[in-house]
Amino acid sequence: MKITIHGSGYVGLVTGACLADVGHDVMCVDVDQVKVARLKRGEVPIFEPGLEDLIRHNMEDERLTFSDSPEEGVAHGLLQFIAVGTPPDEDGSADLTHVLGVARTIGQHMDGYRVIINKSTVPVGTADKVHQAVADTLEGRQAEVDFDVCSNPEFLKEGAAIEDFSRGARIVIGTDSDKVRKLMRECYAPYSRQRDKLMFMDVRSAELTKYAANAMLATKISFINEIANLAEHLGADVEQVRHGIGSDPRIGYHFIYPGCGYGGSCFPKDVKALARTASEVGAPARMLQAVETVNDAQKTRLFDKLELALHGNLKGRTIALWGLAFKPNTDDMREAPSRVLMEQLWQAGARIQAYDPEASAECHRIYGERSDLCLSKQRDAALEGADALVICTEWKAFRTVDFDKIARTLNHPLVIDGRNLFSPEDVEAAGLEYYAMGRGA
Ligand code: UGA
Repeated sequence: MKITIHGSGYVGLVTGACLADVGHDVMCVDVDQVKVARLKRGEVPIFEPGLEDLIRHNMEDERLTFSDSPEEGVAHGLLQFIAVGTPPDEDGSADLTHVLGVARTIGQHMDGYRVIINKSTVPVGTADKVHQAVADTLEGRQAEVDFDVCSNPEFLKEGAAIEDFSRGARIVIGTDSDKVRKLMRECYAPYSRQRDKLMFMDVRSAELTKYAANAMLATKISFINEIANLAEHLGADVEQVRHGIGSDPRIGYHFIYPGCGYGGSCFPKDVKALARTASEVGAPARMLQAVETVNDAQKTRLFDKLELALHGNLKGRTIALWGLAFKPNTDDMREAPSRVLMEQLWQAGARIQAYDPEASAECHRIYGERSDLCLSKQRDAALEGADALVICTEWKAFRTVDFDKIARTLNHPLVIDGRNLFSPEDVEAAGLEYYAMGRGA
């Protein structure tokens, strides 16, 4: 099938590459000419395991092309995916400028039937707005060109996006048109052969499904973080509690890992946007507001623990920081807990020596050159001359460490672990003072 993807960001590139890989003729369009020029040379602007290879291989086989001309994109695909960004507005609602801009472009240039598919995470009711935007720009050509708008939210995790696209639990499609159902079935047939993963529903339910899924996952995290904080006060160990509750299949082990708060481009934005929508329709989502409040507070807990352990004395200290990305296998630092910690440390007059396997360049891009930040190229180099170690991200490379070496290298034998990577006994046996999340004081 001929498919166009508008927006060559994270979602657009993964969707384009995966659909090309199963044999579709895909054109990825972006208005950023520099980005498109790089993509045409096979340079992928984001770090996502396997994506660069997938893109190159499908470009070589001529199933995947890139263009900076939306007009060319509209001419190409029978299916027009919209995968552009929906950044939060100041009030937390999703900004639809780019989505509606693409809709108008499609309306202006289409010369025959098109299915317009919302892939971006958009508030409930956006498909109607897209429909209206396209209709408004047809300018009297309604009789010649027909179109449908449907919702097909993505459920891709950064770092596992290709796997999620290919082997995800479900493919949600919101439409009331039989024609669209048939075309979308054809589009996703290669991914739905072994088990029918297509779930057709009405457009608004599909739009809400995406937000409800992310809000539920964020709720699980804030819930376990709240239990972790409670465990600290009660002298319990949240890791044992996690095992205890996860063994009940109604609760399950997934997504109940306590930590220093959720980050990334999705959960914080989507929880805010859904809460905003709820207030707008007069049905305030009190739980969602609490999920956000708990998460914001959780991100400051590493600093609080550090301050307590160092008796409030952070000025002039050097803190080693392992992990900058909001989670492993990505270089993404959007809403990362590490950022809250770094900003609090700088405020308190401390210096940071940070190491991350992938996100150093991104950190440099965000904070630039500063005398109170040193980005180490090696994990253990970040420890040299530091007063304490704080772990913000559970990269695999941090799981196996020589605690004796850490104790010998740090000026002050203190480890604050925001991801509960170690057994407290092992760390403490090396003479280190160890504070994790929800495990004792
Ligand atoms: C999330 C969802 O998992 C995807 O299904 C969804 O498609 C995506 O948002 C989106 O809306 O596009 P992502 O933001 O890539 O994906 O990251 P996750 O792997 O879900 O992790 C989110 C955050 O939760 C991370 O900061 C992680 O450290 C934290 N987390 C996760 C915990 O603190 N505890 C857990 O048990 C699980």
